[in-house]
Amino acid sequence: MTPINPTELTAQQEQIRLIRARRAPGSHNTHISLHGVTQSFSPNKNAPPLVALNNVNLEIHPGEFLCIVGPSGCGKSSLLNLIAGLAFPSSGEVQLNGERVTGPGTDRILIFQEHGLFPWLTVGQNVEFGLRMLGIGRKERRERADHYLRLVHLTSFRDSYIHQLSGGMRQRVAIARALATEPKILLLDEPFAALDAQTRDMLHDELERLWRETGCTIVFVTHNVRESVRLGDRVLLMSFRPGTIINEFAIPLQRPRHIEENRVAQLAREILDHLRADINKAMEVEFANTPRSK
Ligand SMILES: Nc1ncnc2c1ncn2[C@@H]1O[C@H](COP(=O)(O)OP(=O)(O)O)[C@@H](O)[C@H]1O
Ligand SMILES: [Mg+2]
Repeated sequence: MTPINPTELTAQQEQIRLIRARRAPGSHNTHISLHGVTQSFSPNKNAPPLVALNNVNLEIHPGEFLCIVGPSGCGKSSLLNLIAGLAFPSSGEVQLNGERVTGPGTDRILIFQEHGLFPWLTVGQNVEFGLRMLGIGRKERRERADHYLRLVHLTSFRDSYIHQLSGGMRQRVAIARALATEPKILLLDEPFAALDAQTRDMLHDELERLWRETGCTIVFVTHNVRESVRLGDRVLLMSFRPGTIINEFAIPLQRPRHIEENRVAQLAREILDHLRADINKAMEVEFANTPRSK
């Protein structure tokens, strides 16, 4: 790979400045920031703590589509959980508009690969579930559920049960359920990893359209570099042991994009080369520290 030259770097910085200035129509102005965020876990009393995230500093701009890529175990889910307010840093701070995050809120919603739909409820009832929790009355619940089911093209499945749907349809229900609560920030944790390529491509298009229409901020975690280039305004690269952000790439490609396009593949390859170099370095360090058997 040719290393990024200074001119390209300046172009990258300019692109990042443009992203910061961008506002989708009707978008909100919630700014997410992480300051020196470290998170450690203690698997048991005798083991040394495992540092999942080390000194992460990050600014996420209102209305941005941010992708975070990194190998398994580098702390991506931990990072999303912190932004969601489902976990708290061991040190440092996660802030929304300068205020410390002290728990979950209706302004943020997290969607996982396993999507967490209730099998004993119908599609419509699943979408209405969060609204009921928010104390929204029956008429408005119904209207909102219909609206978001229409957006994900599932109107005719309103009365079906989850087991009657394909994987892609289930993920669309999960997206509709999340969007129905009208969050400002959508946190997605490898949401499409278990889907076949065609369904995933379709959901890329739908997610992008929903993002444009609602003006929400999306933080999308994936281990698939191509997927991050397909979707993101900006891609952050994480490395493991301990998890840190090692690089940042503005994605200058015009939308619409497709994951199979050459320009997407080319940029993904360049980013992957950075990631590989970093993983090799980490492996060398780990190998050097591992006592060898005779
Ligand atoms: N609740 C937890 N208790 C102990 N260790 C955890 C916990 N959550 C995550 N970890 C560890 O932290 C590291 C990062 O995990 P995770 O954030 O799930 O990574 P990723 O999502 O990138 O695969 C892993 O080594 C994982 O085993
Ligand atoms: Mg994960």
